[in-house]
Amino acid sequence: MLRSKILASGMYVPPNVYTNNDIAKMMDTSDEWIRQRTGIEQRHWVDETTATSDLALKASEVALKNAGIDKKEIDMVILATLSPDAEFPGTACFLQARLGLPGVPALDVRQQCSGFLYAMSIADQFIRTGTYKKILIAGAEVQSKGLDRTPKGREVSVLFGDGAGAIIMGATDVTDAKKDSHVLSTHIHADGTYADELWAPLPGTKNPKYRITAEDVQAGKHWPKMNGKTVFVNAVKRMPEALMAAFELNKVKIEDVDLFLFHQANLRINDMIAKQFNIPDHKVFNTIQKFANTTAATIPIGMDEAVRAGKLKKGMLVASAAFGSGFTWASALYRW
Ligand code: ACO
Repeated sequence: MLRSKILASGMYVPPNVYTNNDIAKMMDTSDEWIRQRTGIEQRHWVDETTATSDLALKASEVALKNAGIDKKEIDMVILATLSPDAEFPGTACFLQARLGLPGVPALDVRQQCSGFLYAMSIADQFIRTGTYKKILIAGAEVQSKGLDRTPKGREVSVLFGDGAGAIIMGATDVTDAKKDSHVLSTHIHADGTYADELWAPLPGTKNPKYRITAEDVQAGKHWPKMNGKTVFVNAVKRMPEALMAAFELNKVKIEDVDLFLFHQANLRINDMIAKQFNIPDHKVFNTIQKFANTTAATIPIGMDEAVRAGKLKKGMLVASAAFGSGFTWASALYRW
């Protein structure tokens, strides 16, 4: 049975760490507020010279090294991000050029916090159909350059961090589904009627004459806007739905899953989902405390951190779920 599997992961975060106390010096917030409401303790933010593709390149190089393959074997590059290097072309093109893979297709996925699972789903389809054998997927974000670091930005800016994670997905012949590494299924969804509950409206062609003007910037119209409560309520509904779809399709019981790697938007969201499914604490791997919400980079960073922490081992059954702007949500069930 031809399936896709994850060959290896890699990650990279920029060296500069900003604790909640550092953030409290910029805006009217506190370590206590951020920790209690979100679980976040610190985040990594880039310096002025670093772009999203720089982070993606570093994570991709680690993933290639860990997979032990030559980069020339890569048939496709997919990059999930909401913080592109430029308006166009897609950031996957910058990454592909930096990797030195001319001619290889390069695709951007713009599904925000669900972007990495959307990318896994796309790669899975290309591999299952026999079109490609090896696909590099990176999730990378430079959030910090898109955050209002003044007191006006505190509702959103405390939540996000910069970083990148990458995986190599490859074709595999599955003979024993209970043992062999492979992706069992992916499930992707969206409901665009909620688009303006969490979005960055500008620059964009919804704007009357130009995609953005100096006045727009002065009025702060380019900063992300979020209705946190609506996001929270929908996240705790949609992520379990996407997980249930995976369990039902594959006839898997919750207790069969060895590790849950959820998107990291808020520790309380993940705690509520774990409680809903009666998942013991040791089976949920959270990284939000160290990295905050790194959007599309979150799940591959979680994979790589879990591997290096000895929590994610070959043969383990893993369930991932994500929810984010769009609204979009997704799940993936895979044997590592
Ligand atoms: N520091 C201190 N006080 C703050 C801060 C801050 N950083 N931000 C807001 N407050 C204040 C508010 O002004 C409010 O004050 P008031 O009671 O005097 O009016 C109070 O704290 C409570 O604010 P709430 O918005 O009610 O806080 P809530 O408990 O809802 O927590 C949070 C806010 C953490 C954002 C939560 O709603 C949440 O996590 N939502 C989901 C976020 C998420 O999942 N995002 C999706 C991913 S992002 C993506 O896809 C790109």
